[in-house]
Amino acid sequence: MHVHVADHPLISHKLTVLRDERTDSPTFRRLADELVTLLAYEATRDVRVDPVTVQTPVAEARGVRLSTPQPLVVPILRAGLGMLEGMQRLLPTAEVGFLGMVRNEETLEATTYAERLPDDLARRQCYVLDPMLATGGTLSAAIEFLVQRGADHITAVTLLAAPEGIARVEADLADIGVPVTLVTAGLDERLNDKGYIVPGLGDAGDRLYGVV
Ligand code: URA
Repeated sequence: MHVHVADHPLISHKLTVLRDERTDSPTFRRLADELVTLLAYEATRDVRVDPVTVQTPVAEARGVRLSTPQPLVVPILRAGLGMLEGMQRLLPTAEVGFLGMVRNEETLEATTYAERLPDDLARRQCYVLDPMLATGGTLSAAIEFLVQRGADHITAVTLLAAPEGIARVEADLADIGVPVTLVTAGLDERLNDKGYIVPGLGDAGDRLYGVV
């Protein structure tokens, strides 16, 4: 897996405010949204385009348009939903599929509880959105799911990642056979014994949507 830690002062600034426990939910949602748009710019560096020609008022100009099939954006429910609009802002024509995955807080393993995705993902570039790459169980399972359906290019976008999670995804996907890239705003120190990222930002779903 190619890991890209987005290094930009605006990203670091917004991430710092997100981490702050005093940041309230509306501010957290707005900042997460802005941060994802900045990450989306990095994450779409490899988005596929086709050459086209357009007529300007002056002359013909060669350019590019996004290829079809359009990219698929896949937020992992629930917390990934808080990243969807930020991604769509840069990829408004992308289709959106949903994967509901929940982590068992004792075993820390991920299971799928909901899925709304095209059956055939052949030739699809998929952008998986999940704010926290912690143990890596959810992200590995989601990527395996998409590749089994035929996706041939995966980019995961996270706000934070832990080294343990990256190692797990790399081990789980060693033979996956498609390019996988991680774009994240920050690479933190470690996980604690509850599987939380340290220093992290707490429970991203709770901070976005409240404790339910
Ligand atoms: N999920 C979160 O929301 N936060 C963490 O620190 C780890 C997993």
